[in-house]
Amino acid sequence: MNYRCPICSQTLQLIQQTWCCDNNHRFDCAKEGYVNLLPVQKKRSKDPGDSKEMMFARREFLNQGYYQFMSDRVNQLALEFAPDAIHGLDIGCGEGYYSHRLQRVMQTRGEFSLNGVDISKSALKYAAKRYKEIDFCVASSFEMPFEDNSFDFMLRIYAPSQDAELHRVVKSGGILITVSAGPQHHFALKQRIYEQPRSHPDIVSQIEGFELIHGERVQQLLQLEDPTDIANFLVMTPYNWKFTAEQKQAMTTAKFSCELDFKIEVFRAS
Ligand SMILES: C[S@@+](CC[C@H](N)C(=O)[O-])C[C@H]1O[C@@H](n2cnc3c(N)ncnc32)[C@H](O)[C@@H]1O
Ligand SMILES: [Zn+2]
Repeated sequence: MNYRCPICSQTLQLIQQTWCCDNNHRFDCAKEGYVNLLPVQKKRSKDPGDSKEMMFARREFLNQGYYQFMSDRVNQLALEFAPDAIHGLDIGCGEGYYSHRLQRVMQTRGEFSLNGVDISKSALKYAAKRYKEIDFCVASSFEMPFEDNSFDFMLRIYAPSQDAELHRVVKSGGILITVSAGPQHHFALKQRIYEQPRSHPDIVSQIEGFELIHGERVQQLLQLEDPTDIANFLVMTPYNWKFTAEQKQAMTTAKFSCELDFKIEVFRAS
């Protein structure tokens, strides 16, 4: 899959280790193998996306397999709804945990190339080093460096996006699987923070240009005992900054359980 230039939208060609367009905009591949296609003038902050600390905590936590049941279900749905997909994209792929598991499963039935896009350089450094068979680029999901109608399968797990941009890069009839928080997700954490914790709103998602063709929730009780796993779990949630150091200390020295409630939705592009 060729990239398109984030500055002038021309197709980029890979010449040695540099992606170049006809207007001589040039983007070097990093030694880890990813390419940074987020031009400085389009960066909103110095180090956008998840920080190194969040990325590291998520990586350690996910590698213990605690969310594997969700990844497995996503992959089953990918096989079921996109059995013939050849070009896939993982949007906000982070350090590539879900990407490489998807790639492995999709390749069991034939050719499948996967691109991963994320705005966090530290996440992609790790991803590219570890998963050589996937093409990773640093870019924003709001302005992706791909041609129109590029992908027949897309995955978006807890990452921001914009409807029109999703629709631009997907092929007509292409499948998009999204994962977001179900009503009970992380409720035990909220109970520790808020006097009257509220569930996530139970709404059916709408994405312009796509038809929702399947929706389900997968739930499990996460039970943690290892202090490092508990600490990593806290850091990777959006609630980490709400806890004081004392609260965190207390939480990591006792057993901890928490609801996991993932909403998985499958869309077909018009
Ligand atoms: C909660 S994480 C999910 C990562 C991965 N899909 C997972 O579940 O492990 C959200 C990811 O979206 C990325 N992200 C945030 N804003 C983004 C943007 N505008 N474009 C692309 N990625 C973005 C973050 O860097 C982070 O890796
Ligand atoms: Zn260019």
